[in-house]
Formats: sequence, C-alpha cells, structure tokens
Amino acid sequence: MSSYDPLDTAVLENPYPVLADLRAHTPVCWHPGMRAWLLTRYADCVAVLRDHTRFARDRRRAGAEVPAPSLSVQSLDPPDQASVRSLFMNALHAQDLHAIEARARRLLAARFDRLAGCASFDVMAEVASPLAVTVISDLLGVTSPDVATFGRVSDAIMRSMDGGLDPSVVEPGRVAREQLSALVESWFQTSGRPGLLAHVRAHAPASEVQELYVRNTARVMFQGGYSTLVAAVGNAVHTLQKHPTALDRMRDAAMLRTGVDELVRYDGPVQGTSRIAMATCQIGGVTVTAGQTVTVLFAAANHDPEQFPQPDQLVLDRFPNRHLGYGWGSHSCLGTVPAQMALRALVTSLLHHPAPLVTAGVPRRRRTATMRTFETLPAAFRL
Ligand code: HEM
Repeated sequence: MSSYDPLDTAVLENPYPVLADLRAHTPVCWHPGMRAWLLTRYADCVAVLRDHTRFARDRRRAGAEVPAPSLSVQSLDPPDQASVRSLFMNALHAQDLHAIEARARRLLAARFDRLAGCASFDVMAEVASPLAVTVISDLLGVTSPDVATFGRVSDAIMRSMDGGLDPSVVEPGRVAREQLSALVESWFQTSGRPGLLAHVRAHAPASEVQELYVRNTARVMFQGGYSTLVAAVGNAVHTLQKHPTALDRMRDAAMLRTGVDELVRYDGPVQGTSRIAMATCQIGGVTVTAGQTVTVLFAAANHDPEQFPQPDQLVLDRFPNRHLGYGWGSHSCLGTVPAQMALRALVTSLLHHPAPLVTAGVPRRRRTATMRTFETLPAAFRL
C-alpha cells in the first residue's frame, strides 16, 4: 500500500498518482495519522455521502460536544438541517444570478486591463481573491470587506481545517473565527441591502435556534464559499495554462457550460470530507466499526476510471459528469450555481482579453490537505 501524506511536497504537487495507487490496492484503508478510513473509489464515496442515517456529519450523534457557534448547515444532519438548508436554498434561487455574473465579468475586464502592463502578477491575489469576495458579497447583499484583510482571516480558518495533522494552526484559526463572527454580526445589526441574507432574514422562522443556525450558516457561506472559490479559480487558471487549446474551445456556449464542471472534476479544490459511522458496517469488504471516522476523498473518486473514462484527461465536453467536486447528498455545495457562474465569468473574461494569460514564474502550492490551492500563481498577459 502507498503511504499517503497529503502534506508531502510531491503529493501537493500532484496527488493523483498516489490516490490511484490507493484506489487500486487498498481502496478502503486505515490512515493512522488521520485516524480515519480513507475511501478512494467513487462508488464507496457516493454510498457514504448519500446515507446520512448511517454516516453522520453531526458529531453530536456520536456523543461529541459541538459548540453552539459551530452549529450550521454544514455541521447539522437531516432532519435538523433541513429547515436552514431550504431557507438558504430558496434565498439563493430568489437572487438575480445573471446580474451577478455580468458584474463579475465587468470586474474582471477592468482588472485584466489594469494588469495588462505588469511583467508578472499573482493570479491568487490579483484575480481569484477579488473575484471571490465580490461575487459572494454581491450574492449575500453585504458590503465587500477589504480583500487583503479578509483573505488573511479566511486563510487562517482554512489552514485550521488541517488541525489534526498540524496542531499549530488551531489557535490562529480560533482567533480568525472570532474576527469573522464580528464581521458577520455587523451584517445582522444593519438593515441590509437586498440579497440572499436579506431574503433569509425576512423568511427565517422566529426562534432562537433558527437564528443561531442562520448566523452560523451565513458565516460558513461567506468564508467557505470565498476560500473554495479562490482555490477553484487558481486551479482552473493553472489547468487552462497546462492545456493551451482548452480556453479557445470554450468559446462554444455548450463547451463552456460542461467545461467549467470538468475543470472542477479534473483538479478541484475540496479534497475530501468526513463522516462518522453510526453502526458497524462493511465498506468494500472492510469492517468499519461504529464511531470510526470515514473520509471520502473527492479528489480520488473524481479520477476513478470505473466512473470516468480517461480520468486523467481534461475532457471539456465530458457527459455525464457526475463528479463529486461539489460534494453529494444532503451536504452538497449550496454555492454550486454561483460558483459555476463565477468560473464561467473567469473563462469568458480570459477569452475577451486581447492577450493570453501565460505563466510568469514558478507556481507554489499551499501546504494544506483539505483544500487544494495555490499560495502563489505568477502570470502575465503576453501576446
Ligand atoms: C468552485 C467552487 C466551490 C467548490 C468546488 C465547492 C465545493 C463544496 C463541497 C465539496 C462541499 C461539500 C463538503 C462536504 O460534504 O463536507 C461544499 C459545501 C458547501 N459549500 Fe461549496 N464549493 C464551492 C463554492 C461555494 C460558494 C461560492 C459558496 C457560497 C456562496 C459555497 C457554499 C457552500 C456551503 C454553505 C456548503 C455546506 C453545505 C452543507 O453542508 O449543507 N460553496 N462545497
């Protein structure tokens, strides 16, 4: 069996060979460092994600304490989760996403014009972060926080997701969560612009518990949505640079629609998620004991040849493409539609810019296990 260290430099560079090896030889394997069963086969991953009765997200069901500020759409399970999830889902559907996409395109066009003369710039700081902050603030109907300051808060929270592997990131994560809470609280103290949050507040049932879930979910949506979108934009730009004909093929509207999903399958940001087995069961012939953690590795499932022919190729018109890049089941991504929209805005803006965006230095992956992203991605517009 391959030993899997998600923070190893070679794995950060390219995790797919080691994940393929695990899938081929030990598709359900115990990882002592993570204290979890790792699942790498698409079918096993989907079976766990769709069965929230046997595999819990809500750790209270396994007897753990979950502090009140952590109770959100992300940490609850059905039936408790249902009301808050549908509240946010309905609010999302009530937003004018075409207008948000058009504003995202205008933002990118202006940024690209300004960056056109630079010998080199960092795609993460200059393109991905401002795009993500703008799209999510616009969607929620809140004033955009300062991109650099918010980026630092979000990064500390993102790094703390790897607290099990690196305890030094836990305390900075706690401090950053307090800063994020203060920001979100300020949105609830004002009357609020029209947008997703105003819709949620107008329709939320009046109960203390629901109010807590709503505030916590607003926080998850803003920070989680921001960090995954930043990572997805960086990964997409990098993949497009490695496949020089791909961008041009996405001039076609149908190819653009399927292509942005394929970019997330091919090299998506969220590497995995965990659930707790509520009863002793068998997964792929292996006995998983009640109370043990099962980690679904999205990145591995998305390259499973049993589900995706030519899994390591970028197939822009792949169909069907039921990838797990946005998760699956009761915890699947609430921001899939705005994320697809932001990625489309990125691709069309790159296509409209007169000069191609080329690599202008050595990209550096961030040393994080849960989120696959770049620390820096140097590029330049050059004819
Ligand atoms: C390309 C960008 C994005 C990707 C790849 C992505 C991916 C994911 C994945 C894989 C999950 C499921 C995690 C799990 O099962 O534990 C998830 C959940 C979630 N995402 Fe996203 N996401 C993206 C963008 C966004 C955006 C822009 C927002 C907000 C506007 C957002 C909000 C959420 C929320 C609130 C959840 C938790 C849902 C729940 O637990 O019920 N995401 N996302």
